[in-house]
Amino acid sequence: MTGWRIRDFHASDMDAILHLWEQSHTSGVEPVYALAEVLASCQKDHAVVAVHGETVLGAAVARAAHDQGWIVFFAIEENWRNRGIGSGMLASIENRMAPLGLTKLSTLVPETEHRVAALLNSGFVDRKHLRYFEREIPVQRQEMGLLGELGGRLMARNLWSAVGGMQREKELLERRLVLPLANPDLADQYGVVPPRAVVLFGPPGTGKTTFAKAIASRLEWPFVEVFPSRLASDPRGLAGALRETFLNISELEHAVVFIDEVEEIAAQRQGEPPSPLQGVTNELLKIIPAFREQPGRLLVCATNFIRALDTAFLRHGRFDYVIPIGLPDEEARHAIWTRYIPSEVAADVDVDALVGATDGFSPADVEYAARKASQQALEKAVYSPAYSGADARTPPVAAGPSTADYLAAIAETRTTVSAEVAQDFREDIETIARL
Ligand SMILES: Nc1ncnc2c1ncn2[C@@H]1O[C@H](COP(=O)(O)OP(=O)(O)O)[C@@H](O)[C@H]1O
Ligand SMILES: [Mg+2]
Repeated sequence: MTGWRIRDFHASDMDAILHLWEQSHTSGVEPVYALAEVLASCQKDHAVVAVHGETVLGAAVARAAHDQGWIVFFAIEENWRNRGIGSGMLASIENRMAPLGLTKLSTLVPETEHRVAALLNSGFVDRKHLRYFEREIPVQRQEMGLLGELGGRLMARNLWSAVGGMQREKELLERRLVLPLANPDLADQYGVVPPRAVVLFGPPGTGKTTFAKAIASRLEWPFVEVFPSRLASDPRGLAGALRETFLNISELEHAVVFIDEVEEIAAQRQGEPPSPLQGVTNELLKIIPAFREQPGRLLVCATNFIRALDTAFLRHGRFDYVIPIGLPDEEARHAIWTRYIPSEVAADVDVDALVGATDGFSPADVEYAARKASQQALEKAVYSPAYSGADARTPPVAAGPSTADYLAAIAETRTTVSAEVAQDFREDIETIARL
């Protein structure tokens, strides 16, 4: 039985393409290109169909990318195989596309697809050593504008691994937040409701902001920081502006929303007349329930001063977890120190000694001591008698800061977190933390 012929795709062939696509989908072979891609190419790129009378028997759809053509869909009705229809369609699509200046026509075929006779008969070579990789783009074009308006952005991909040490905190955040948020279906299977809002608390400079950004990076969700106190100048009024901001956030597919220094707006209600920020607090309390209803987002609030927060603000049902972030442990201090020690002298500096001498230091304190050591070592080298008055272009004798320079700077650094604050923090962990 012959009687088939090949013609250009018409808009009225759409149903037939759909049918062919479903058929190839249900035959147990997962197609490489999504249906939407195939349909878009039918309309915008190049497509031919094989027909018998009015009935569509097969289709070949392809697009050109510079010199290379890609077949994005190729299918033949089950009972019309082995009659040369496939080879006919391949030749036909190639003829139509060759004038575009193509040097190559290619196609990706699932490993499990065995019906490749038409390709082999038409001179296509099986490039067996190739593997196919793909990745979903986390923020799509239609969201970019909105994200820009909100001042949000995608974080670099390595932030999570860049957080040194802090294994206990990292593991807790990984298990309680990242696991259910990144795998909502799995969470659902176990009856776990993914968290929607958390509070991070701890002394200043312990890495709360760093962790909030790292969570966004780990989830590959955009990071949107909201500054309630900055909204004060908004013509819609503070509360209105906050509402509007969260309304915009609700349009995003995913987001980690960050409010830093939340004690500024959610402090215990006191004082006559009430603080102008009280309106914001009330608005935020109204916003959180709606925020909680939408999947794919997480609100992270950070505070240095958890005991100042209104107890109602921290209520169960509003925040899932209240997580302490403490001073950096040895491993974290090691990571932070190595960040500031110039690579030229890294091998000569006893980092363990610096780590040991900076117990109780915050990351910011380490940074301060490191910069001070560098500056002092530089001055010492340049103004040393051996060098003084010399030609300014002559390089200094010393090679860079030494362990002694660092230890001297450490001795001169006053820690941000006093013993008293550290004690308060330990008490807060006992009385307020919720893990
Ligand atoms: N575990 C860590 N590893 C490396 N750097 C860190 C770590 N924790 C904090 N830092 C650095 O210390 C500084 C202060 O951290 P930050 O997150 O702003 O503290 P907080 O928000 O708690 O005040 C930042 O420069 C940050 O990059
Ligand atoms: Mg911070």
